[in-house]
Amino acid sequence: MEVIVLGSAAGGGFPQWNCNAPLSKAARDGSIKTKWRTQASIAVSADGEHWLLVNASPDLRQQLLQTKSLWPRESPRHSPIDAVLLTSGEIDHVAGLLSLRESQAFTLWATPRILEILGENAIFGALNPDYVTRKSFPLDRSFEPEGKHGPLGFTVTAFPVPGKVPLFLESRNQGNLGGMPEETVGLEVTAQNGGGRFHFIPGCARMTPELKQRLKGSALVFFDGTLWQNDELVDLGISPKTGARMGHMNISGADGTIAAFADLDVKRKLFIHVNTTNPVLDEGSPQRAEIRAKGWDVAEDGMRIVL
Ligand code: MLT
Ligand code: MN
Repeated sequence: MEVIVLGSAAGGGFPQWNCNAPLSKAARDGSIKTKWRTQASIAVSADGEHWLLVNASPDLRQQLLQTKSLWPRESPRHSPIDAVLLTSGEIDHVAGLLSLRESQAFTLWATPRILEILGENAIFGALNPDYVTRKSFPLDRSFEPEGKHGPLGFTVTAFPVPGKVPLFLESRNQGNLGGMPEETVGLEVTAQNGGGRFHFIPGCARMTPELKQRLKGSALVFFDGTLWQNDELVDLGISPKTGARMGHMNISGADGTIAAFADLDVKRKLFIHVNTTNPVLDEGSPQRAEIRAKGWDVAEDGMRIVL
């Protein structure tokens, strides 16, 4: 099984178009060692021919151009993308669907709730049902996603993680910003040929005993790396919102991700969905050194992992 990181930044990308806080500015002017990043998404394949896109980011077109494995191979039209699976209804996870509207067949997988959100937005009708089949998956039950050419050769178990309703639906959900279990999910992906297993959790508001149990001993976990600290955006004068308010746990501190993973024996740990303000993006920062010392790294666009 092969995994390609198509994008590794949080909503807005890195550097974000309108951010001129020190890190984004330095990324633009080249005064620090770092890599620019598009918005988080991965592609998974059991055979290198047929691919599942996990989340469709607003940067999808750029990501496909940068990824030879996802270029068309047949004339006049073709795509190695057989299916797309969504882990939430956030703009940075679904907007790329609009770039897949060129009468190209694929299967779109999501929870019933996320399919309902897409169904309420008439613009997604641009995905012509003659070509795009929408299929739902249940939580906590393993299934084998199918694409336009049949089963993809690996199984997926989606499970609820503490999260948040999509930002654009917050005004409707004032009483429950945490949202429903089907609105933010993590994935366990297992190759059928004994070729490994990994977890993908790009958004998570806090660690729970159930999640710890699930992640124990995993060969590879991609985990929400949005913020270094809970009040990062407040400190920078960018927004009054804390990480907790945005549905993202912080990396550092006693309540942070590094501490939460300390006894989980995860073999490879990669932060993904990293915000343009997070100092771990600076390869020379003490924060990057700290995560490296704790066995973590930051996912990069173009990274390939064979399991
Ligand atoms: C998030 O992860 O918090 C959202 O993607 C925010 C956004 O849509 O800007
Ligand atoms: Mn996001």
